[in-house]
Amino acid sequence: MKKIIIAIDGYSSCGKSTLAKGLAKALHLAYLDTGAMYRAVTLYLLNNNIDYNDLDAVAAALQQVSIHFERIHGQNHTFLNDVDVETEIRSMHVSEHVSPVSAISMVRKAMVQQQKAFGKRRNIVADGRDIGTVVFPDADLKIFLVADADVRTSRRHLELASKGIDAEWDDIYKNLTERDQIDSSRADSPLRKADDATVLDNTLLSEEEQLAITLEWVRLVRSEE
Ligand code: DC
Repeated sequence: MKKIIIAIDGYSSCGKSTLAKGLAKALHLAYLDTGAMYRAVTLYLLNNNIDYNDLDAVAAALQQVSIHFERIHGQNHTFLNDVDVETEIRSMHVSEHVSPVSAISMVRKAMVQQQKAFGKRRNIVADGRDIGTVVFPDADLKIFLVADADVRTSRRHLELASKGIDAEWDDIYKNLTERDQIDSSRADSPLRKADDATVLDNTLLSEEEQLAITLEWVRLVRSEE
């Protein structure tokens, strides 16, 4: 069967990673969580007290950052300089700083280069903000996920609670909407729907329903080839 790339973009906490993981499992594809990479860089800057407005310091920091992924008990774990940071990168503290950090062109350039290398073998599903527009403009299927902000906040609240991370609903709502604003308005590769992406509004859909719909889209894409 022909190797494929599936690109999933959308606003914060739209369920992109849930959908990407579901598709990866069903179709035996590798999963690339590009948001985790920006989160790992942000964590490095915060842990080392590096001011991200100081571009020389950010450039030096990027030389010290190495990110890789490992599967542990069936779960994707992000490693920063060989340390498992999967839980830390999801904290509210990182969420509060990741959008300005990911708006820095130098950071984007370094991450996109690694992401493109990851996609060389194809057979991957990647999620983020610029996957269909910049990272994999030749993806076989591009999905742009949207969902109501209140529903997204409640989902993120539950997700954080399940990881033992305590956060207020209002703080999560504020963080999501602020990140949407920064991610969509930055100068370098802002979040936007690729012209050839299909929009999926999953506000009223269960995980199973959104997976079933998109698996059908994959089937159609494959039958066209
Ligand atoms: O998907 P996420 O919420 O874990 O992503 C965290 C942040 O990283 C998001 O607010 C914007 C940034 N990001 C990006 O700029 N480009 C990507 N491809 C993925 C994430």
